[in-house]
Amino acid sequence: MTQILEKIDTSIYSLEKVFVPTMGALHEGHVALIKDAKEFDIPLLCSIFVNPTQFNDKNDFKNYPKNLNNDIEILKELEVDFIFTPNENYIYQENQFENISSGYIGTLFEGKSRPGHFDGVLTVVKRLFELVNPKVAIFGAKDAQQLFLIKEMVKKYSLPISIVESTTVREKSGLALSSRNQLLTRNGKKEAQKIYQNLIFVSNLYSKIKDVNFAIQQGIERYKKLNLKYDYLVVVDKDTFEYPGVDTKELLFLTAVYIDNIRLIDNLSVKL
Ligand code: PAJ
Repeated sequence: MTQILEKIDTSIYSLEKVFVPTMGALHEGHVALIKDAKEFDIPLLCSIFVNPTQFNDKNDFKNYPKNLNNDIEILKELEVDFIFTPNENYIYQENQFENISSGYIGTLFEGKSRPGHFDGVLTVVKRLFELVNPKVAIFGAKDAQQLFLIKEMVKKYSLPISIVESTTVREKSGLALSSRNQLLTRNGKKEAQKIYQNLIFVSNLYSKIKDVNFAIQQGIERYKKLNLKYDYLVVVDKDTFEYPGVDTKELLFLTAVYIDNIRLIDNLSVKL
């Protein structure tokens, strides 16, 4: 039986559990995380909290899709043990949370266009970790910079939590699933397929000529030809989020594009 909790009491706190934090508007990407979580065979807690502090744009927060009843149905169907739906006052109780800085890497890429976004993400994730006390927490590779910064935070604060990465779930077209896809027009959805196609183009080009800058440059040219309003297309070392160097084991191509004024992100990794 699924239990819905607005608060975490000591009996729930002390259970050994796996945790999947979300902002709701659940789709198959979230479902994949939950299925991965079930593999651990310990109680599973999924949170739904649309965290206001990670939205630097009030309209983006207002327009973020919310569908709690439907989300609860999905989670019950998946036999999730606990659904945690805290309210804002409980999460941001005075003196009960610490503002976390995402540092320099938090100011790059997503953080450059969304100032304060990753500080908001890390602050809420740390607060959720403290409330939920999970043994394992699962995050999607789709939000690569978020995943990297969460792993760094866990290391920095020596939190006794294993962070597990779950592969990006895509539509047949290649478009990465996102709650924001619901906000796209029909034509926008078609346009959005070109994001992943361009990442594939860039990684194929890189594999052929082994010149990462040239591959990125050609990817940018392609965005321009396709008339796509891109924000960035960059490459980093997946393990450091710095520019790749001689020690790089895995490249990560990262991109953000605006379609119908909706910001969509995606990434593709290439093992070296
Ligand atoms: P949200 O966007 O709801 O995503 C919840 C989790 O689902 C994240 O770990 C995200 O990476 C993962 N996810 C989203 N789309 C995915 C896809 N297509 N394939 C695989 N995983 C996918 O990310 C957040 O919420 C918030 O920032 C949160 C971590 C909950 C903090 O507020």
